Amino acid sequence: MTDGDKTDADDRTTHFGFRTVAEDAKAGLVHGVFTNVARRYDRMNDLMSGGVHRIWKDAMMDWLAPRPGQRLLDVAGGTGDIAFRFLRRAPDATATVCDMTESMLVEGQRRADAESLAERLDWVVGDAMVLPFDDASFDVYTISFGIRNVTRIEDALAEAFRVLRPGGRLMVLEFSQIPNSALQWAYDRYSFNVIPALGQAVANDRDSYQYLVESIRRFPDQEAFAAMIRRAGFEQVKYRNLTMGVAALHSGWKL
Ligand SMILES: C[S@@+](CC[C@H](N)C(=O)[O-])C[C@H]1O[C@@H](n2cnc3c(N)ncnc32)[C@H](O)[C@@H]1O
Repeated sequence: MTDGDKTDADDRTTHFGFRTVAEDAKAGLVHGVFTNVARRYDRMNDLMSGGVHRIWKDAMMDWLAPRPGQRLLDVAGGTGDIAFRFLRRAPDATATVCDMTESMLVEGQRRADAESLAERLDWVVGDAMVLPFDDASFDVYTISFGIRNVTRIEDALAEAFRVLRPGGRLMVLEFSQIPNSALQWAYDRYSFNVIPALGQAVANDRDSYQYLVESIRRFPDQEAFAAMIRRAGFEQVKYRNLTMGVAALHSGWKL
């Protein structure tokens, strides 16, 4: 290709943690991170958060209040934590777990077999920005610790809106910003010093965990993210801080 063939898309950049990369390179880099961590993902989650991610995921279910028969789409669903919780609370509900990293889904399928939930679950390799599902085909859309990895968050939210039926609900669990600078400082010291070192010690993989902490710092704060959800068409958008804003839940309705 000569310079004369260059398009705007070739020049677009985004962030991968604190690095600036070409927009079309990011998905491959994210895929590499989660392929590397898949086998140890669940153990590392417990180690890094001291088990607190379980409390946050349970809080997500408390607010979501799954109902019998609902069809859940859990995007960036990884090893299935959200889908499993949903199905345990809602008899006759079904869940589709969609993720772009097959090795994360393979881990999830193993767990589903062990928990006897397999027949109510589908596992689909797909990208949050171009979901392989029909319009209005789900009652609930969840994405937990996934959206900050997506190259164009606006595209993922537009897809969430498209695949939900009218009356359907979106809920996002994501790391957020602590609205207190002293606490944020302490949390940053922990994240940047402890987490990559843990990744190195436990998984022999500092870089993947360095990316994870950098991507957390790059994600918009609670109000800015709520505004993005409203711009995608959702109504009654609200959020709740978890652990003083270390993470947050955002909820919106397609009305
Ligand atoms: C931190 S894990 C979260 C897994 C699970 N939802 C949880 O809460 O434990 C992030 C997941 O997002 C997936 N992911 C990242 N970008 C994606 C995209 N554009 N489309 C679909 N999945 C994506 C990764 O493959 C990875 O499995």
